[in-house]
Amino acid sequence: MTLEPADTGGVRSLDELYSAFDGLSIEGGWHRRSPALWPEPRRTLVPHGWRFADVRPILAAAGDLVDHEMADRRNVTLTNPVEGNIYPTVRTLVAAYQLIRPGEAAKAHRHTPSALRIILEGHGTYTVVQGTRVEMRPGDVLLTPSWLWHSHAHLETSDEDCYWVDVLDVPLVHLLETMFFERYPGDFETDVVEADEAPIAFRWEDSLRRLGAEQQQPEHGMAHREIQLGDPAMRTIALHVQEMPAGWTSARSRTTANSVFTVVEGSGRTEADGTVIEWERGDVVAVPSWRPYRHVASSDARLVRASDEPLMSALGLLRTERLEGTSAQIETGG
Ligand SMILES: [Fe+2]
Repeated sequence: MTLEPADTGGVRSLDELYSAFDGLSIEGGWHRRSPALWPEPRRTLVPHGWRFADVRPILAAAGDLVDHEMADRRNVTLTNPVEGNIYPTVRTLVAAYQLIRPGEAAKAHRHTPSALRIILEGHGTYTVVQGTRVEMRPGDVLLTPSWLWHSHAHLETSDEDCYWVDVLDVPLVHLLETMFFERYPGDFETDVVEADEAPIAFRWEDSLRRLGAEQQQPEHGMAHREIQLGDPAMRTIALHVQEMPAGWTSARSRTTANSVFTVVEGSGRTEADGTVIEWERGDVVAVPSWRPYRHVASSDARLVRASDEPLMSALGLLRTERLEGTSAQIETGG
């Protein structure tokens, strides 16, 4: 059998070959401008910490300057400080500090991104999620799962400004091109039921009680005691409350899950891939995928870890490696 000579369109050199690519939106796999595969996760976003003490006065000033009609957007996004990044805190998640003042309300709406909020300060705020109204108190974690109606309001009977940390999977939804957003017709949900207990509310006192009942250190060694809020909290975000006594050093590990830690109590530092991040109550720490890290508590500390573990797990992409230290330990000093 004889083969017909292939039609090469008259191309006789590599230069001619590459100019034949022009206008066709194609690229040769043998000479990519940027590789498509690599041996392990690249260090694109960086470990970083934000101090509540830095952001609180800025939010307070915004409280005076930014109209309360914008209360649902009067927040400060924690943008991972790598060149070119304008939004995510870690690849799939964004965190923000938010302030709501007495008498202010954010109108009901829903969106495909899932969100949660960790209350840092202030009493007298309520959130309504899909018809259930719950009070929000410091340390509480409240969920607004994907596509559920939600609003929040601060009662005028309290004179305390309320600060919280929001964590949302908006960067993931951006990547997937699945953003939908809708305002509630008539601004606020009617037919609202008051509740102190709800599946979307994790009370700080319950978290403390559950931590106190934990007998065992978790196998991963990244906390002295740990509980999970929900199982998982939402389809894309897991929440763990992690407790570390003063002087305690965690194991060192890395995971493909992206993490955002919010410090609810205590102080210490996180050493993440060569960066040392000091933290205290109200601070937020970002540890992106595959960065080796460990925590060191200088006073009794409790952190809320929000991570994309359920997402990574559902996709078969969750890998976690404990790097060194057979057991987490209390520093003996000296
Ligand atoms: Fe929202």
